[in-house]
Amino acid sequence: MTQDELKQAVAQAAADYVAEKAPAGAIIGVGTGSTANFFIDALAPLKDRYRGAVASSEATRKRLEGHGIPVLDLNEVEHIPVYVDGADEVDAGLNMIKGGGGALTREKIVAAVADIFVCIADGSKLVDTMGKFPLPVEVIPMARAHVARQLAKLGGKPVLREDFVTDNGNLILDVHGLAITDPKGLEAQINQIVGVVTNGLFAVRPANLLLLGTADGVRRIG
Ligand code: A5P
Repeated sequence: MTQDELKQAVAQAAADYVAEKAPAGAIIGVGTGSTANFFIDALAPLKDRYRGAVASSEATRKRLEGHGIPVLDLNEVEHIPVYVDGADEVDAGLNMIKGGGGALTREKIVAAVADIFVCIADGSKLVDTMGKFPLPVEVIPMARAHVARQLAKLGGKPVLREDFVTDNGNLILDVHGLAITDPKGLEAQINQIVGVVTNGLFAVRPANLLLLGTADGVRRIG
């Protein structure tokens, strides 16, 4: 199977899971990226069952609306039973690195509201120790150099993502060379740096379920 076929398989499994867990009229949280895009496509045939979706990025909002799925403002929504999103790396504890697409802050906000976080990923994303994928950190532009110096003190090599501005008008530093043995501790530590908006570690609030695409089918972990 190709990587896209694995992504499609987990996206369909997630749409089936949502149909099982989310009541009719529910609002679904939707992530960002190529795997999340397949999920949006799999959700589309069921759109009349749900009231709509909350999007974790402008790109996701556009794709949802392209399918005729209403997109709601998170501030007008009280309850999201399920949030579905991809990951750049995920470990056996369902901690993740996210933000390869730069949408980490809105992803973390929608995930915080949701009851259940379902991570969908092809098998290549499952790792023993996270950090091979550079950790994205969203920063306020005027704090870029300060935050980069602090990240270097933690042992990482921060690289400014060129020609990229987040949906929130901020910058991304991609931090190379971290071996992340304490994801929750590092997530909290980086959030303490003044000027950091969010970092791409999802360990304080890990996924509840991982749907992993493999050649043998979709594995459920968690
Ligand atoms: C977006 O900012 C990211 O967090 C994505 O969820 C992550 O990069 C996974 O993307 P793919 O599904 O495209 O690999």
